[in-house]
Amino acid sequence: MRARKKKHGAERLEAVSKYFTTIPELDSNKVTYLEIGCGKGKFIIENAERNPDINYIAVEKVSDVILLAAEKANDRELKNIKFMICDAKGLTEVFLPHSVDYIYLNFSDPWPKAGHYKRRLTYKAFLDVYRHILKEDGAIFFKTDNAGLFEFSLEQFTEDGWNLKNVTYDLHNSEFAKDNIMTEYEKNFSEKGFNIHRLEAWVK
Ligand SMILES: C[S@@+](CC[C@H](N)C(=O)[O-])C[C@H]1O[C@@H](n2cnc3c(N)ncnc32)[C@H](O)[C@@H]1O
Repeated sequence: MRARKKKHGAERLEAVSKYFTTIPELDSNKVTYLEIGCGKGKFIIENAERNPDINYIAVEKVSDVILLAAEKANDRELKNIKFMICDAKGLTEVFLPHSVDYIYLNFSDPWPKAGHYKRRLTYKAFLDVYRHILKEDGAIFFKTDNAGLFEFSLEQFTEDGWNLKNVTYDLHNSEFAKDNIMTEYEKNFSEKGFNIHRLEAWVK
């Protein structure tokens, strides 16, 4: 996601600094969901509003983008969400092994050029990171409009021994539509007529 440099970005980040963390402290009595590549945060903010007893952590590598998400959380005075400016590849240094319950990957950048496949967030090297931080009964919930990325992801998860469940090529006309919360990209692409694909990849 390209973002124009935010005016007064540093001051705005400072104003919502209580929403940012570098080493999250997880409450073991609560379920923790992590979203990787949260963008402007529509999805994770709506989840946090809907489920006040669940903890949410949103990770995004672009600070000008995650700032918008943190400002939304601040406007709504949410208590159950934190944000981290961080690259997915560094998550093993941030989270204790097997401490996260579930991971969301929503509309991850597809990196369509064959030579760029190692950058896709469902490439095996990233799956190793997720397996390291997820609990043994944990899972990844993945959505995309991109057929190529979806096929690649199905292959990577299968080759890496994940247990795939509830795979659909048309989320909005499936049984999962009822509880689905749309992301910014999802709203945009589905309005343009693209089908949304979804899968669950369970550790076991
Ligand atoms: C296509 S956007 C989708 C945003 C949002 N999830 C949505 O569905 O509307 C992908 C986002 O993932 C972020 N991203 C890409 N690679 C990342 C990485 N390695 N670590 C953290 N964030 C990443 C990008 O900066 C971008 O904001």
